[in-house]
Amino acid sequence: MIPDKVPEQDVILGSGDLKKDAHIPTFEKYKELYVNSVENPEEFWGTLAKDFFWKTKHTGQFFNYNFDVTKGEIFIKFMEGASTNICYNLLDRNVYEKNLADKIAFFWEGNEPGDDLTVTYKELLQRVCQFANVLKSQGVQKGDRVSIYMPMVVELVVAMLACVRIGAVHSIVFAGFSAESLCERILDSQCSLLITADGFYRGDKLINLKLLADEALQKCIDKGVPVKKCIMLKHLSKVPEETAGCNSPPPKRSCPDLQVPWNPDVDLCWHTLISGASDECEPEWCDSEDPLFILYTSGSTGKPKGVLHTVSGYMLYAATTFKLVFDYQPDDVYWCTADIGWITGHSYITYGPLANGATSVLFEGLPTYPDVSRMWEIVDKYSVTKFYTAPTAIRLLMKFGSDPVQKYNRKSLKVLGTVGEPINPEAWQWYYNVVGEKRCPIVDTFWQTETGGHVLTPLPAATPLKPGSATFPFFGVVPAILNESGEELTGPSEGYLVFKQPWPGVMRTVYGNHQRFETTYFKKFPGYYVTGDGCRRDEDGYYWITGRIDDMLNVSGHLLSTAEVESALVEHKAVAEAAVVGRPHPVKGESLYCFVTLNDGMTFNQKLESELKKKVRDKIGAIATPDFIQNAPGLPKTRSGKIMRRLLRKIACNEKDLGDVSTLADSSVIDQLYQNRCCSAV
Ligand code: WTA
Repeated sequence: MIPDKVPEQDVILGSGDLKKDAHIPTFEKYKELYVNSVENPEEFWGTLAKDFFWKTKHTGQFFNYNFDVTKGEIFIKFMEGASTNICYNLLDRNVYEKNLADKIAFFWEGNEPGDDLTVTYKELLQRVCQFANVLKSQGVQKGDRVSIYMPMVVELVVAMLACVRIGAVHSIVFAGFSAESLCERILDSQCSLLITADGFYRGDKLINLKLLADEALQKCIDKGVPVKKCIMLKHLSKVPEETAGCNSPPPKRSCPDLQVPWNPDVDLCWHTLISGASDECEPEWCDSEDPLFILYTSGSTGKPKGVLHTVSGYMLYAATTFKLVFDYQPDDVYWCTADIGWITGHSYITYGPLANGATSVLFEGLPTYPDVSRMWEIVDKYSVTKFYTAPTAIRLLMKFGSDPVQKYNRKSLKVLGTVGEPINPEAWQWYYNVVGEKRCPIVDTFWQTETGGHVLTPLPAATPLKPGSATFPFFGVVPAILNESGEELTGPSEGYLVFKQPWPGVMRTVYGNHQRFETTYFKKFPGYYVTGDGCRRDEDGYYWITGRIDDMLNVSGHLLSTAEVESALVEHKAVAEAAVVGRPHPVKGESLYCFVTLNDGMTFNQKLESELKKKVRDKIGAIATPDFIQNAPGLPKTRSGKIMRRLLRKIACNEKDLGDVSTLADSSVIDQLYQNRCCSAV
């Protein structure tokens, strides 16, 4: 499975400097530990668990599971019966046991250069306790769901950890999602409270977040399920005191243009609430398998799935992957550019780094604002040592050449990481040669919201790298490649990427719909967790992700389902039917190319095109805005009426070789589709 020998040609070896102190210094060490992690999970994870605080020890089997639908219900239970609190492990333990009270937890860097602040572990603990008391005073109890819709501010971390402290379940919704998406997620997880902010700047664009939050809350009322309270952080605005009941001074980045709506029956001011709250709060001890958080990810039916993670397995997995994949050392300054609204931010801004007592950069802004060297300016400003970003950001910055990078010295960098989508070798080389000056290994980490943490990844001092390959499995993870009939392929091969046994960080269920969990991940190939990704294993045993093989698209590292976009399009009165496919895009990886069949009497024109784009943006969010909309009087269908997306993908790319079209019901639609191609989509 893991090769005995790794090739010496065609690979890039990690820098010698890292090896001196690395946790996993050689490939041999990785292999030895890997075998143990798979064969003796109890010993492997049990040893790592000793570094955490447990209020009570586990009682049942250490790792108990059924991964095979043919043998009954799927379940995964890790250290069941043990009780702990993650917030206690992330903060109290670091402050009181590890002597890290005054260590900086976050360097917060705002959207505008010069707008920054720092938070130590001790301060973070106090602020979390204070807000935990606020949540309690609002009636939030263990097990209650709390929705969080906030920009990248320290208070977002405070809010999530305050939930964790009292055993409440956070459901964070990325602040780029629309009001409709927020409402859908609030209703699905039956949240009793929403935490949001007035607004924020994304580059030079002002986002009135409270307005969107209010719109979402109104939609909840319309559906008969009102949310009781909404706590709003003042990040930008000057809220009128008399309406807000809020006497704290406006933040220094005050933005008088921001008009914040206020409903005294529902809205509460963050600052007023914390001003009287105690900064001590006993943690609520939770069972290992109590729910920790819900995070929504796109589903192929169009309805997002509430991925549920539980306490101990997730904590251990996020902490261990962070420590080993970035080879975390106590003097590191680590920066992950993801938004906390996505799983990468959950695991590798909040949980993993804080569990290790790390110092991180928390960045509110954009890589291109005020100019395209912002990332490297920040790297130098804080002497960042470990840097983690997405291929789409690398491709975007690559377009501007090496000058903006070389304006800054970046000497502090030691390890570079990527996540979110396959990285093309050209972008890999640019990242390695220009950004890291051939000094820094690149960890191309493959994982999913569902996996909780990295599952295929290099270890920076141990794994010889191949540009574009996520290399080998992390500890405890057993990948396999299956063909269409579910047979395991050996040696060099290509097919479905699956996992054969659980690891502590794997999701436990889809919130409120265990059947959907089983159907989505375990039905197709009984006995395996199915990732939905295609994968190739080369002659040296390296894994290469080839992209999604279900109806999912990956736009700038964000998964979208074609069904979700199609259902937004058909909501427009002019549209009878829609089919959406991905079209390769030089920066975003994939872009959305939509085919729409109009209702009789409707005309396709620019106005309709803009309306349709707006419709998708309003329904899902800006990340889902289509790049192309094409008029398609007829769609290619099989005789049973199934849309042949394979053909549409070729048409979107103007590829003329359509392959086998024998199952096509009416071939005359094809010529028309080529004629109607969007002119800008050459
Ligand atoms: C894709 C993000 C190739 C993949 C952490 C996966 C990747 C989906 C990589 C999950 C990578 C993520 N190489 N593809 N290194 N990392 N993906 O749930 O298609 O937002 O299934 O989690 O992103 O996206 P999600």
